[in-house]
Amino acid sequence: MNNFLIKPKIVTCSSADEFCTAYHIGKEDLVLVSGNMRKRNFPNAFADAVVIDYRQYVTGEPTDTMIEDIRQSIGNQKINRIFAIGGGTILDAAKLFALKEYSPVDKLFAGEILPQKDKKLFLIPTTCGTGSEMTNISILELTKNKTKLGLANDALFADEAILIPELLQNLPYQFFATSSMDALIHAIESYTSPKATDFTRVFSVGAIEKIIAGYKVIATEGKNIIPTLLKDFLAASTYAGIAFGNAGCAAVHALSYPLGAARHVPHGESNYAFFIEVYKTYASIRQDGALCQLKQLLAKLLGCTPSMVFVELEGLLENIMQRKNLHEYGVVKKDLESYTDIVMQKQGRLMANNYVPLDRDTVLSIYQKLF
Ligand SMILES: [Fe+2]
Repeated sequence: MNNFLIKPKIVTCSSADEFCTAYHIGKEDLVLVSGNMRKRNFPNAFADAVVIDYRQYVTGEPTDTMIEDIRQSIGNQKINRIFAIGGGTILDAAKLFALKEYSPVDKLFAGEILPQKDKKLFLIPTTCGTGSEMTNISILELTKNKTKLGLANDALFADEAILIPELLQNLPYQFFATSSMDALIHAIESYTSPKATDFTRVFSVGAIEKIIAGYKVIATEGKNIIPTLLKDFLAASTYAGIAFGNAGCAAVHALSYPLGAARHVPHGESNYAFFIEVYKTYASIRQDGALCQLKQLLAKLLGCTPSMVFVELEGLLENIMQRKNLHEYGVVKKDLESYTDIVMQKQGRLMANNYVPLDRDTVLSIYQKLF
């Protein structure tokens, strides 16, 4: 049996002003937004709301301690609605703040606290990658466990995903590159997941087409063209969120999490470090079904033969972001065994979605090849 769910209502606003007029944010509302974004896009808004500048709590990837610190700042103030305006870190965090009880965070992630939502949640993405606005997943680094873990529960769905392309206009190139790469990987991993259906593949393919088309334009026109493409990249990211929210991500994300947590590598960059090698590994084991169809789709989009798609794709992606070997992030050889153990023992939720099962030796060999 398969279910296909698009839970949050998707609202598109043409500007921040239109959003402010529509939602009347004020008393008993909590707004999570960076100081810079507020100054630039919402200079006269949120006066009566509880506003948290999350940049004061987090500089990179999200952790359980960040959640506990923000929780302390919110204190006992009465909150009915939560508006999170930001990248995946803050959208994932906001999903927890919408719960009746979420502390201690490690108990929530261990299943010892039942997630129960008791506030309205509105997620407004300002990058074009995580798709978090559409999923029921919150991903955090649990500092005691030294890896990132995902909590998936329907109580984490937002009520509305609000898309405001204007908010992406000042996205620094590095964030554009890493977030859009993450979205492409969401679309591709969900396409080849055993949980994929005809419904999820519509959204995977839509995202892949938009992102590859955008990357090809950037390859020929240069980076200055990016602002004209952001509306498409934001839509692609949301499509990919719908796809992986239903069909799941897999080994690329699983292998990426120990690196991301240990070396604080941005999520999309860390995924890119593993992406092509994981797909070459799949292809070396089996090439029928979804992988065969994916290669045909990519061949059409890239203008090459199916046998050359991963070479061509890597060439296109290198233009967006240069892949580094693991030692360049400070990884040492003995880390590879422990990363492999983390993947095999803690990332079962993702590894269950692999196109073909990958055993311990195969996972270790991917790490070794990329070292
Ligand atoms: Fe991701």
